[in-house]
Amino acid sequence: MSLLIAGSIATDHLMSFAGKFSDSLVVDQLDKLSVSFLVDDLEVRRGGCAANICFGLGNLGLNPVLVGAVGEDFGDYRAWLERHNVDCDSVHVSTTKHTARFVCTNDQAMAQIASFYPGAMSESREIELAPIIERVGPSDFVLIGPDDPDGMLRHTDECRQRGYRFVADPSQQLAFGDGELIRQLIDGAEILFSNEYEASLITQKTGWSTDEVLDRVGTWIVTLGPQGVRVDGRGRESISVPAVPEIEKVEPTGVGDAFRAGFLAALAWGLDHERAAQLGCLVAVYVVEQIGTQEYTLSRSDLLKRCTETYGERVSADFEPHLKTIHP
Ligand SMILES: Nc1ncnc2c1ncn2[C@@H]1O[C@H](COP(=O)(O)OP(=O)(O)OP(=O)(O)O)[C@@H](O)[C@H]1O
Ligand SMILES: [Mg+2]
Repeated sequence: MSLLIAGSIATDHLMSFAGKFSDSLVVDQLDKLSVSFLVDDLEVRRGGCAANICFGLGNLGLNPVLVGAVGEDFGDYRAWLERHNVDCDSVHVSTTKHTARFVCTNDQAMAQIASFYPGAMSESREIELAPIIERVGPSDFVLIGPDDPDGMLRHTDECRQRGYRFVADPSQQLAFGDGELIRQLIDGAEILFSNEYEASLITQKTGWSTDEVLDRVGTWIVTLGPQGVRVDGRGRESISVPAVPEIEKVEPTGVGDAFRAGFLAALAWGLDHERAAQLGCLVAVYVVEQIGTQEYTLSRSDLLKRCTETYGERVSADFEPHLKTIHP
């Protein structure tokens, strides 16, 4: 069995400017705006939701299949992901566009000038899932994460038509998508992932009540930041799982993706939703403690130790036989 993870693959190029942008802006000349800032730092970080989730799954010892579109510049990033157990053989490589890129400069006053170039991502609508499943064997789940909206719709439709079990994870696209798009992306999903704010966006934009959403998806996982996570299902009692206390809060970007990796890994091992939520919280806390979304190291011994400290020995014992992390 395999896990197909579809969604964005991108890099973030982050720069910092030691002055203030506002000192260089002439208010009555904005129609002729032309400014350039000498920046003293450039950080390139690997990201994109699908790549982040695959990185987490690969670190836990699974062999996820990344589904998304990139440019010919993907070589180094591909090598990095493959070193972390990610199957990149079905990634679509555009011949004309670069990999999606977020370029952002911050100044000292925390003002920000940023651009997002989706680039090759728009070609994810050209990807068909069936040949991928033919190559890797039947899938446990196809996760459909934020991506080019036409690509997301195509994957979701294909899952419904061919009867592939799918996980809806529209996150950032909920802010841009209208009710019709969102209804199509979640209807029939086996699992729906969102945070609390996105949960409100879903009910507000679709016009469906919480119960009506639960009628259409098997399980709705709502992450609650430092408060942990709630797992809801129609006619089932909600399960609440507390987060893992962080040692040091550095930067939370990417916690949601790491949570999904832990959750899906536990499901792939045949564990229940409570264990899945616990493993999700465990992987997520490592991201809180690092800058960047793929900079953490999961060691088997540390993961089990923190698991025992937070959730007890019985939970660790359930994970232990399955856990084949890259790092001992
Ligand atoms: N400060 C924290 N300390 C420990 N765990 C955290 C913290 N923040 C988040 N988490 C864990 O990460 C999970 C996901 O967090 P959250 O609900 O903030 O996701 P999100 O809003 O989708 O994040 P993002 O989109 O920025 O990645 C939570 O369920 C929790 O387990
Ligand atoms: Mg999120």
